Amino acid sequence: LPESRLYQSNDKSPLQIFVRAKKKINDIYGEIEEYVHETTTFINALHAEAEIVDKAERELFESYVYKVAAIREVLQRDHMKVAFFGRTSNGKSSVINAMLREKILPSGIGHTTNCFCQVEGSNGGEAYLMTEGSEEKLNVVNIKQLANALCQEKLCESSLVRIFWPRERCSLLRDDVVFVDSPGVDVSANLDDWIDNHCLNADVFVLVLNAESTMTRAEKQFFHTVSQKLSKPNIFILNNRWDASANEPECQESVKSQHTERCIDFLTKELKVSNEKEAAERVFFVSARETLQARIEEAKGNPPHMGAIAEGFQIRYFEFQDFERKFEECISQSAVKTKFQQHSSRGKSVSGDMKSMLDNIYERITIFRNLKQDQKNLLTERIQGTETQMMQVTREMKMKIHNMVEEVEEKVSKALNE
Ligand code: GTP
Ligand code: MG
Repeated sequence: LPESRLYQSNDKSPLQIFVRAKKKINDIYGEIEEYVHETTTFINALHAEAEIVDKAERELFESYVYKVAAIREVLQRDHMKVAFFGRTSNGKSSVINAMLREKILPSGIGHTTNCFCQVEGSNGGEAYLMTEGSEEKLNVVNIKQLANALCQEKLCESSLVRIFWPRERCSLLRDDVVFVDSPGVDVSANLDDWIDNHCLNADVFVLVLNAESTMTRAEKQFFHTVSQKLSKPNIFILNNRWDASANEPECQESVKSQHTERCIDFLTKELKVSNEKEAAERVFFVSARETLQARIEEAKGNPPHMGAIAEGFQIRYFEFQDFERKFEECISQSAVKTKFQQHSSRGKSVSGDMKSMLDNIYERITIFRNLKQDQKNLLTERIQGTETQMMQVTREMKMKIHNMVEEVEEKVSKALNE
């Protein structure tokens, strides 16, 4: 892979909200794991020594070890997921490539993407593919080969190909954003399966429209189903191919306001997923192809406008960046809530349960200790009593012996005299 461009970390990115939250919750769970291990060892020892803890309790503590380990594993894999939908050729794959700053996904005229493609970050600088149901890593040496591999894989349109791309090549991948590209919503009859298989854990949806035409019934229907299955999905709308409007400057503004109004109505009145103000922040007019070209030029050290397709490049480029910023804010906040809220309340309940069990055990230990102390006291009392008795007996014996000796002495001297 060419190593011409390595992206530096951007700590001001809103994605850091998620990155930091993930680190924090992982650290906390690391501590919980240690604490659970220590406690289990202690509880096992208690069981072996004094039988204060019964078998059921021991088993319950051991189950916490597994529970915490399982949550830790899920946590390490948690990511932010964005899924792109829209009609064939609207530029879904091009938008993802522009965000990744590299032409990773195949794009082209006609029906290009023929199954779901998920792009996610890989460690160790490796690039490879994995198809559904197989653990085999298909190595990808270059992008052309990736496109060929995707074409050759005879896959059903709702199956998933996972593309692992080196994290260090793109800051979004580094910060755990996962991209899901889809075939056009107009080419499938299985939209319900698509939603069930690929959308239920998406944090953000991006509807990519073609600004040269208007939103189609298939696109609308798809999002109606999404919003029935998910409560208030986060939806962004990109009116792509906006560079085409440069050819008709006289009607540019009126077309823009017509599209804007329709998009806002769709989000507010039809889907009812946001209010007017929020919806206005979710609609953008961009050119994915131009943005990608500009970014490729930038990476070569050239000014971005060298990638311009038409008049008005700068405005469209800014608008794409504005979209990315708002998208980053939205996805990281949403992912923190949906992915971590549950884990933190589970962590709380595990530590709460353990605490009350330990309190209970502590109470039993205290009672046990008091009982032992009482027994000890009783024993001491008895010993003390016996000691006094012994002393008395000894004293009496001494007297007796003394008397006996005297008597014997007396008797002996009397006998001698006689
Ligand atoms: P499918 O995978 O077939 O569903 O299409 P898609 O939505 O992924 O579209 P894709 O990204 O493959 O783009 C289709 C064609 O439109 C390609 O030739 C792109 O280069 C071109 N294209 C994409 N975005 C733009 C844009 O903003 N402006 C212009 N002029 N062309 C674009
Ligand atoms: Mg595509």
